[in-house]
Amino acid sequence: MSTSAQDTSGKGQQGSHDQPTTIPGTQIQPTHRPETNVQTKPRGAVGARVDRKDGLLKVTGRARYAADHPLKNTAHAVAMQSHIANGRIVSIDNSAAEKSPGFLRIIHHGTGEKLYRPTNDFGSATKPGEIRVVFEDDRVHYAGQYVALVIADTLQQARRAAELVKITYAAETPAVDTDTAMNTLFAPDQFFGDKLKVRRGDAASAMAAAAIKHEAEYVTPIEHHNPMEPSASQAEWEGDDLTLYETTQWVVGARNTVAETLGMPQEKVHIVSPFIGGGFGCKGFIWPHSMLSAIASKKVGRPVKLNLTRKQMFSACGHRSETRQKIALGASVDGKLTAIQHDVVVQTSTVDDFFESAGSINRMLYSCPNVSISHKAVRVNISTPTSMRAPGENPGTFAMESAMDELAYRLKMDPLQLRLVNYAEANEHTKQPWSGKNLRDAYAIASEKFGWSKRNAEPKSMRDGHWHIGWGMATATYPGMRSPGAAKVRILQDGSAIVSSATQDMGGGTYTTMAQVVSDVTGISLERVHPMLGDSRMPPAPVSGGSMTTASVLPAVKEAAQKAIMKLMETATADEKSPLYGKKENELAAADGRIYAKGSSPDSGVTYQQILASKQQAAVEGESYVGPGEERKKYAFQSFGAHFVEVKYDPEIAHVRVSRVVSAFDVGRIINRKTAESQAYSGIIMGIGMALFEQTVYDHRDGSIVNSNLADYVVPVNADVPYIDVLFVDKPDPYIDADGLGARGIGEIPITGMAAAVANAVYHATGKRVRDLPISIEKLIVV
Ligand code: MOS
Repeated sequence: MSTSAQDTSGKGQQGSHDQPTTIPGTQIQPTHRPETNVQTKPRGAVGARVDRKDGLLKVTGRARYAADHPLKNTAHAVAMQSHIANGRIVSIDNSAAEKSPGFLRIIHHGTGEKLYRPTNDFGSATKPGEIRVVFEDDRVHYAGQYVALVIADTLQQARRAAELVKITYAAETPAVDTDTAMNTLFAPDQFFGDKLKVRRGDAASAMAAAAIKHEAEYVTPIEHHNPMEPSASQAEWEGDDLTLYETTQWVVGARNTVAETLGMPQEKVHIVSPFIGGGFGCKGFIWPHSMLSAIASKKVGRPVKLNLTRKQMFSACGHRSETRQKIALGASVDGKLTAIQHDVVVQTSTVDDFFESAGSINRMLYSCPNVSISHKAVRVNISTPTSMRAPGENPGTFAMESAMDELAYRLKMDPLQLRLVNYAEANEHTKQPWSGKNLRDAYAIASEKFGWSKRNAEPKSMRDGHWHIGWGMATATYPGMRSPGAAKVRILQDGSAIVSSATQDMGGGTYTTMAQVVSDVTGISLERVHPMLGDSRMPPAPVSGGSMTTASVLPAVKEAAQKAIMKLMETATADEKSPLYGKKENELAAADGRIYAKGSSPDSGVTYQQILASKQQAAVEGESYVGPGEERKKYAFQSFGAHFVEVKYDPEIAHVRVSRVVSAFDVGRIINRKTAESQAYSGIIMGIGMALFEQTVYDHRDGSIVNSNLADYVVPVNADVPYIDVLFVDKPDPYIDADGLGARGIGEIPITGMAAAVANAVYHATGKRVRDLPISIEKLIVV
């Protein structure tokens, strides 16, 4: 059952890839002109370039984000946070606040809220961002910890009342950085099911015996996700039933975790999160503010809205841990890796465990008989770190791909050649064959388009006027994960369809890809397929994290659509008045909104509307719940890619600018070329930010964050971003699903390796190797 969707608008032909011209109001021209992307399939079909289904709603402001849902008689809450990083709350004096206009209530550890620590299990979707429940006791573990919640009639009144609350603390000395916390150093055993200590062969002996060696330490700072939409939570109770309007990457996880924390049955909690203004991991788990809006609403008997400020986002929903990574590489004179040692120190908090497993990539990224990986962690008085776009792989590839570049220089070998010499033909950690690895293709198409063969390897050798030109490359990688997912497809009497799943779309394009798959199976035009998601009452789906939404949800969507079609076939073949009466289902096909006899033209069949009308039926429905199976034991599912980066460097002012990027990804089939490219652009841009700008700075005296705003926490703006060429190998993964979709997901891989590619280009341009991010100007100034 497959067909091409009908579309006559022709809009899909153009996409956003019109040839760029001078940026209005400037003389700035893109340095590279893209080829026109030729659409080879009809719009709507899987693989085509399709506009976002939710695009119009977003650009016209009609998409309702968590804080936008209009509830009646809403009270407003303001969360108060600790100004100390370690110690105890001694007293909370709210006498002045209580007299303030509009004041309704204050909640804190002394007001007797009944909250329970959830199971903290990822598998059963009861994983909070922080295991200690909010207002558990008078103990302060980090600056920014919630210490009280003030509720009033209006936001202004709540803010004013909060200003009048006097909280006194008994402060103790905090440990806000890794060095100070070294006395807490420990070696966690595993994280999310992965062993954090890995040994293959004998890395120490192989290292000692290696002909060519490279050893160095690489450091990545604490970084924050900074999605456009700050987190917000609106709570509304109807009797014992709670509805939370959230911004979450995991409606099912939010429901389960909130239910456990509040001691409620899961059915009594309803999570609504139809639109998410970016997440990047900070909305993957449920954070304390969601419990606060819920208990506050219950207390005041009204809906309560709690919006986090940008500043609060820096302590309230996780960050990427600092990483310190020692890498030692041993190689033969012809570049074959004989030893890899990767020893990582990260941070976690005093209230939970989260480990940035930066070393884990070296289990399988390159072929090497002797590998040793270790992770250690210290406990600092900073809120708990969490997943941030490619947790582990991203900082890990910065270190490893920088180290490979350094090794290539020691070997006097081209860095791309070094990767090819050490190409892993199988996953040497699990000893499984790859489900589908086409990294050679990615290297080839990206290096060709970039012009890599014209590189002069000598640092500072390439010039454009007074600019030094630097070219660098790196490998990208991320696992091809998949979890069970469910979906429901309803074909309606008017010939349209609704597809629903409790999945999420944080900007990646889930709405659109769900509709594409239904359109593909049913032949109903994309405009008439209405996707619904972000609601915990829909068929369950996994967290939109780990780049697994596409591979987890779309197979269920496809099967659900097929089941709905099967029901139409059953109805048609049982109807004496139908031309299809008496036929077997395997003699039938579906296309263009019709069921027809195989071998004849779709026009000869009956429309879905006619079939439904014949039974006076409003709709047929198919539901499917599918997950990964035995294939996970047989194959290693892993995506790969390559970045080729050009930087321009002005030696007089130590100024670096990324001037060109060509990246290619081997991520299985591309479901929607347009949204896939967008994902890649965003990951690459975030990688430029990581390389050159991003770093959260803490005041080591009190744990406060010095740059907790978007003026001082620098992220790339348009002027920092060059034309980016994104290429896809686009070979379907033959094993990832039984439904022939073959997509491995693309949310995270584009950021991996990117910071290393920039750092390698900077070395090539400047002769300076920067091993601690970001590569800020002061690190490049030659004195
Ligand atoms: Mo992601 S960092 O798995 O949302």
